Amino acid sequence: QLILDTLNSQHVIEDTRNLVLPGQAVAASTSEDQITILGALNSLLSRDMIQYETHEVVTHAPTAEGAQILKEGSHEARVWSVLPPKGHGTPMTPVQLKKEIGDETAKVGQGRAFKNGWIGKEGDGLVKTVSEIKDVTQLDIQEVANTGTLKAGEKVLADLRKRKLIVQKKGQWFTVRKGPQFSTSTAKPETDLTVDMLTSGSWKTASYKKYNFEAEGIPTAGGALHPLLKVREEIRNIFLEMGFAEMPTSSFVESGFWCFDALFVPQQHPARDLQDTFYLSDPKESLPPNPEYYKRVSTIHEFGGYGSAGYRAPWSPEESSKLLLRTHTTASSAHMLYKLAAKCRGESLEDDSKEFTHGTSTAEASGKTDDGFRPAKLFSIDRVFRNETMDATHLAEFHQVEGVVADRNLTLADLIGFMRVFFQKMGIEKVRFKPAYNPYTEPSLEIFAFHPMLDRWVEVGNSGMFRPEMLEPMGFPKDVRVHGWGLSLERPTMIRYGINNIRTLVGHKTSIEAIENSPAVMF
Ligand code: PHE
Repeated sequence: QLILDTLNSQHVIEDTRNLVLPGQAVAASTSEDQITILGALNSLLSRDMIQYETHEVVTHAPTAEGAQILKEGSHEARVWSVLPPKGHGTPMTPVQLKKEIGDETAKVGQGRAFKNGWIGKEGDGLVKTVSEIKDVTQLDIQEVANTGTLKAGEKVLADLRKRKLIVQKKGQWFTVRKGPQFSTSTAKPETDLTVDMLTSGSWKTASYKKYNFEAEGIPTAGGALHPLLKVREEIRNIFLEMGFAEMPTSSFVESGFWCFDALFVPQQHPARDLQDTFYLSDPKESLPPNPEYYKRVSTIHEFGGYGSAGYRAPWSPEESSKLLLRTHTTASSAHMLYKLAAKCRGESLEDDSKEFTHGTSTAEASGKTDDGFRPAKLFSIDRVFRNETMDATHLAEFHQVEGVVADRNLTLADLIGFMRVFFQKMGIEKVRFKPAYNPYTEPSLEIFAFHPMLDRWVEVGNSGMFRPEMLEPMGFPKDVRVHGWGLSLERPTMIRYGINNIRTLVGHKTSIEAIENSPAVMF
C-alpha cells in the first residue's frame, strides 16, 4: 500500500531506500528492509500494477561484535567509563582494569582511549582526563546499521572492517514506476470467474490474476501396481526365461464341455455342483463345440475307448453346454491343447496358435514321418471363480498360475524336474511331492514347500500328467505326453507380503495407501 500511495503522489519511486516502512522511524536502508520491499514489488508486478528496475549496491552491516558495541559502547568508551576522574578517588591499576572489563576490552580499549586523549596515567594507575566523551566508534556502527554505509566515507568503513566490527554485504534497491494495471487498491485479484460475477456484472471491472505458465503442476496421483500384479510379473518372467509362451485366457465364461468334459471330469463330479461352480442364467447355454470332437469326448465318457473303460455313466448334453465361470485355467489350457493338436487331426493350425508351438517336428527324431505334432511350453496367470465359503484365506475369485508342457515321451521325472527349477526360481528351495487325485491327470502330485517362517510344510500347488482320455480325443499321437502344474497367485503373494487375511489384499477392505506403498517383489 505504501508503494502504491507513494507512486500515486510522486509518479515514480527513484530509490526504494528512501521509503519509510510502516512502524519504522528511519528510511528503509538496510538489506532486510529491501528484501521486504522486493516481496511487495513482485506481488504487485504479477498483477501488472507496477514495473521496477533493480540496482545492485555494496552495503555494510554490523558483525556480532559490532552489535555488542551498539549495546554496551566501544572498548575505549568502556575503559573510560570505569576509571575514576583525575584527582578524585584512587587511580585504577591495569590489572584491576582487566578484572573489571575483561582482558580483551581492556587491551584494545586502553590504547584507543589514550589516543583519543580520554584517559591518562596517575602514578601506577589510570584515570579519566575528560568529563565527557563522544563514542565515535559506536556512532559510526549505529550509522552503518541504519543506512548500510557511512557519510564519513570509505576510509572509516575500511577501518571498521579491519577491526571486524562491520562486514560488507551485497544489497539491492529499486526504482519503481506505475504499471498498466496501476491502482491504489490492493484488493486481491480474482482467480476464477464465478456465476455470481457473471450475473452481477462485476466481472467487467474486476481485476484478474494472470496465469503463471511457468508454475509447476500438482503431481498427479498416478496408478500403482497391486501386489498381486507385482508377483504375477515376477512369475511371468520365470516362465518366459524358461522358454514358455503365454496362453490367451481372457474368456472367464466357459462351457461345462471345456471346463470339465474335455478334461475327462465325469459329469457327476461334485466340483460341477451348484455349491462349487457359478453357472450363468442368461445366456444359459454355449454354442456347440466341433461335432466330431464332441462325439469323441462324449463317447469316451459313456462307453470308453483308446484302451480306457470310460465312466460308463449317463451323458447329458445339457450338462455339457451349461455356461459357467471357469473354475480353473485348465479350461483355457484344454482349448490351447485342442488347437495344438489341429495338425495331428489333419486340420491346418489356426494362425493364433502358431506362435505358441516350437515349430520343429520331433517325429523324425523318433523315426516316424511327420504326424503334425509340434512341442509346446505354455503358461497362464489369470482369474478363476469358485462358489466357496469365504474366510480369511478364501474368496469366490482368485488367480491361478498354470504351466503346461507337451512333448513326446515326457515322464513324471520331467514334470518333477520342471517344478523343482520353477519353484527354485520363486525362491522355494525345499519341495516335496505327494501322490494325489485329479480326474484329468494320472499320476497326480500335490506340491509342498517348506515354509521357514511357519516351520512346516505348506501345500503350494497341484500337478500331474494329463490322461490319454483327455489327449487322444483331441487327436494327439499316442507317444505325446502333456504335463501341467498349477498354483494360486494369492498364496505366494500373501507369504511374500506377510499378509494373513486375504481381505487385506483383495476387496473393499484393502487400504489403497498400503497398496500404493507396497514394495516391489523379487524372487
Ligand atoms: N487345475 C488344477 C487345479 O485347479 C491344477 C492343475 C493344473 C493340475 C494342471 C494338474 C495339471 O488345482
